Amino acid sequence: MRAFTVQAGGGLALTAERPVPDPSAGEVRVKVMATSLNARDRLIVSGDYSVDAQGRVPLSDGAGVVEAVGDGVSRFRVGDRVVGTFHPTWLYGPFPGWGELRGTHHDGWLTDYVVLDQQSLVAVPDVLSFEEAATLPCAALTAWSAVKGVGTGDTLLVQGSGGVSVFALQFARLAGARVVATTSDSDKAGRLVALGASGVVNYTETPHWGTQVRELTGGGASRVLEIGGAGTLAQSVEAVAHGGEIALVGNLAPGDGMDVNHFFRRAAILRSISVGSRSDFERMNETITRGGLRPVIDRVFPFDEAPEAVAHFERGPHFGKVVISQSA
Ligand SMILES: NC(=O)c1ccc[n+]([C@@H]2O[C@H](COP(=O)([O-])OP(=O)(O)OC[C@H]3O[C@@H](n4cnc5c(N)ncnc54)[C@H](OP(=O)(O)O)[C@@H]3O)[C@@H](O)[C@H]2O)c1
Repeated sequence: MRAFTVQAGGGLALTAERPVPDPSAGEVRVKVMATSLNARDRLIVSGDYSVDAQGRVPLSDGAGVVEAVGDGVSRFRVGDRVVGTFHPTWLYGPFPGWGELRGTHHDGWLTDYVVLDQQSLVAVPDVLSFEEAATLPCAALTAWSAVKGVGTGDTLLVQGSGGVSVFALQFARLAGARVVATTSDSDKAGRLVALGASGVVNYTETPHWGTQVRELTGGGASRVLEIGGAGTLAQSVEAVAHGGEIALVGNLAPGDGMDVNHFFRRAAILRSISVGSRSDFERMNETITRGGLRPVIDRVFPFDEAPEAVAHFERGPHFGKVVISQSA
C-alpha cells in the first residue's frame, strides 16, 4: 500500500511498498478514503513540532470504510463508514491530559489503510461525504468544545477563517448566536458574512481591532475564540464583554500576551481547549446531522499531491479545511 512519511529535516516521502496491516483483537482495518490538514500537521511535516515525527506517517484526521475486523470487535462491522478520534483514548469525561497521538507517537492517516483500536473511531454522519467527515476530528471538535453553551443572546468573536474558526462560526450560528469575525483578507471577509457573520474586522488594517469589535457588538463579545494566542490575547481582552469568556485554542500569532490588570477589569474567564472526547464527538455529530451543517472545504487534493496540499495550507490562502482524498 501507499504511505507518505515525514523526512529528516522536514518534508514528505512517498512509498508504495508497505504491507497492508491486519487487525488484532479489538482492532479494525480501515480503507482510508480522505484525510484533512490541521495546523499541528503543518508543524509535524516541516519538522518543527515538539515531538520528532521522522519516519512517521503523518495526519491525525481521516475517514474511511471498515474493511476487516479483529476478534471481539463489537462497535463496527465490515462496510461501516468511520472517522477517527483525535485523542485515541479519551472516550468521555474530563480531559485526561495529552497522551500519545496519531501522526507523532503512532502512524497517522496519510496512507491507504490504517489499523486502529475500535474505541478510537466513531460513525460518519450519514449526510456527510468522506471528504467532509475527514474535517471533523480536530478542527470541528475543537470548535464545538470552544463554543459549548453558546446560544441566542451571545455574541461570539472568531479570529480568522481557518478550519477551527469557520466551524465555530457555523456552530454558533446554528445555536442562534451572533458572530463577528476578524480576517486579513477582504474576499474572505465576504465569505465570512455569507456564512452568517454580522460584522468583520480586518486585523492587518486595524491592529487594535479589539476596540472595533467592542463597537460592533455594543460592549464586547460574550465569547471569544482565541486563535492567535500571545500575539492577539491583548486585543481579545479588549474585545471581550464584562464577565465574558475567552476560549484559548491556538497560538498562531507570536507576541507578548496580555495586560493582566486589564484582564482583571473585564472579570473574564480564560478557558483552555484540548479538542474533545469521543463522546463530545458523537454529540457534535448529532448536532451536525440535526442542523444540516456542511463542513466548508477549501480544496480537495488527490493523494499523490499531498506535498502540494501541505504547501497550499502553509501559504495560508485557504478558507476552512484543506482535504486530501485517497480516492481522487
Ligand atoms: N487547543 C486545541 O485543541 C486546538 C485544536 C485545533 C487547532 N488548534 C490551534 O488553533 C489554531 C488554528 O488552527 P487551524 O487548524 O484552524 O489553522 P488554519 O486553518 O491554518 O488557520 C489559519 C488562519 O488563521 C488566521 N490567523 C492567523 N494568524 C492570525 C492572527 N494573528 N489573527 C487572527 N487570525 C489569524 C488566518 O485567517 P485569515 O486568512 O482569515 O486572516 C489564517 O488563514 C492553531 O494554532 C492550532 O494549533 C488548537
